[in-house]
Amino acid sequence: MIIERRNAIRGEITVPGDKSISHRAIMLGSVCEGTSRIEGFLNGADCISTMNCFREMGVDIEYDGETSVVVHGVGLHGLKKPDAVLYCGNSGTTTRIMSGLLCGAGIDCIIDGDESIRRRPMKRIITPLSMMGADITSERDNGCAPLRIGTTKLHGICYDSPVASAQVKSSILMAALYADSETSVSEPALSRDHTERMLMAMGADIEAKGKTVRLDPGNTLYAQDITVPGDISSAAYFMGAALIIPGSDILIRNVGINPTRSGIIDVFKDMGGKIELLDKRVRNKEEIADIRVRYSELKGTEIGGDVIPTLIDELPLIAVVASRAKGRTVIKDASELKVKESDRIALVAGNLRAMGGDIIPADDGFIINSTGDDPGELRGAVIDDAKDHRIAMSFTVAGLAARGETVIENPDCVSISYPGFFRDIMEL
Ligand code: S3P
Repeated sequence: MIIERRNAIRGEITVPGDKSISHRAIMLGSVCEGTSRIEGFLNGADCISTMNCFREMGVDIEYDGETSVVVHGVGLHGLKKPDAVLYCGNSGTTTRIMSGLLCGAGIDCIIDGDESIRRRPMKRIITPLSMMGADITSERDNGCAPLRIGTTKLHGICYDSPVASAQVKSSILMAALYADSETSVSEPALSRDHTERMLMAMGADIEAKGKTVRLDPGNTLYAQDITVPGDISSAAYFMGAALIIPGSDILIRNVGINPTRSGIIDVFKDMGGKIELLDKRVRNKEEIADIRVRYSELKGTEIGGDVIPTLIDELPLIAVVASRAKGRTVIKDASELKVKESDRIALVAGNLRAMGGDIIPADDGFIINSTGDDPGELRGAVIDDAKDHRIAMSFTVAGLAARGETVIENPDCVSISYPGFFRDIMEL
């Protein structure tokens, strides 16, 4: 995909459904009593992986329109042992959260994924799930997938997680639904809380206080109709593009602004971004708004600590936007970036440098310097996206603000979270 400099992006857009909520709606809908209708489901490759895994375990899941999905729940104890390996593709969320659920449900199975999944750390779930009495092992004994799960009874634990990860927290909570006593999970900083909100709506005995969540097993989960809001992580690319391309003025409709996800809005505002949240409302315990974004003269900022989990997937984009902001931007406490779909610290630094940006990578983030002058310091380059969707989309935004041509080598990878991304950005 060849990207050229653009003068302004303008117009209205609705981004596809939230990836995290779509995954959880399929997983939890599958183990509810009754039928759930999911509106605004994200038809990205990752969520389709989740859907296929649960179909493999006997759950009847059907489409009723392009983004409308009906899940016929089988109850907490109704999943069947799959005949084949459960294949999670590129999806860490499927691999980690589903593993917790299947340890609890006592489903004998093997869970695997693509090359990227086979490199991602799974000890972070193996350790707490084993403490609960689960039989879960890394088949090659390297702490990664493929994972083998056997049938055992679980007990509740009190777990102090070393990592602020919603995938780890959710994996434990899923297992906790099946344990014989209460479980609590604390994390060093609060990660996205969609699992907690959805479990609460479905009738689980769950209580969240600060960075700790407690779940008492035993309650039946009841199906809900779920309307999935637009994904703020997808909306972020348009926000970033509008902020750095002079003359831009866009409205993004129906975006989820759950406070555990919306750090990007605070950071862009802090950098001087003209961002307005309009028509705020709540649906299925999730906050939603329309977001207006206009071109702005930005300044650098410092990001670290508790805010990091609230914008973890947006950090590559923030680096790109910072390279068009006046002054210095420091991003720290984000070593998790190294174990995402790719090593996002190395790739962001390499690609931004190839475009002429001034970036110094660190073990837990990066430092970016820029004069913020226009014409931009950025120039087109061939981007090494490593088939990581967030790298491909972030550097598309960079390409729109750079002189010359930018080449995204694996544009198809955007279908992991946003299949229509290039069509939508071209429309604006
Ligand atoms: C996700 C949690 C995040 C995020 C990922 C989706 C989720 O990972 O990076 O894209 O749906 O729970 P961690 O919570 O493991 O950092």
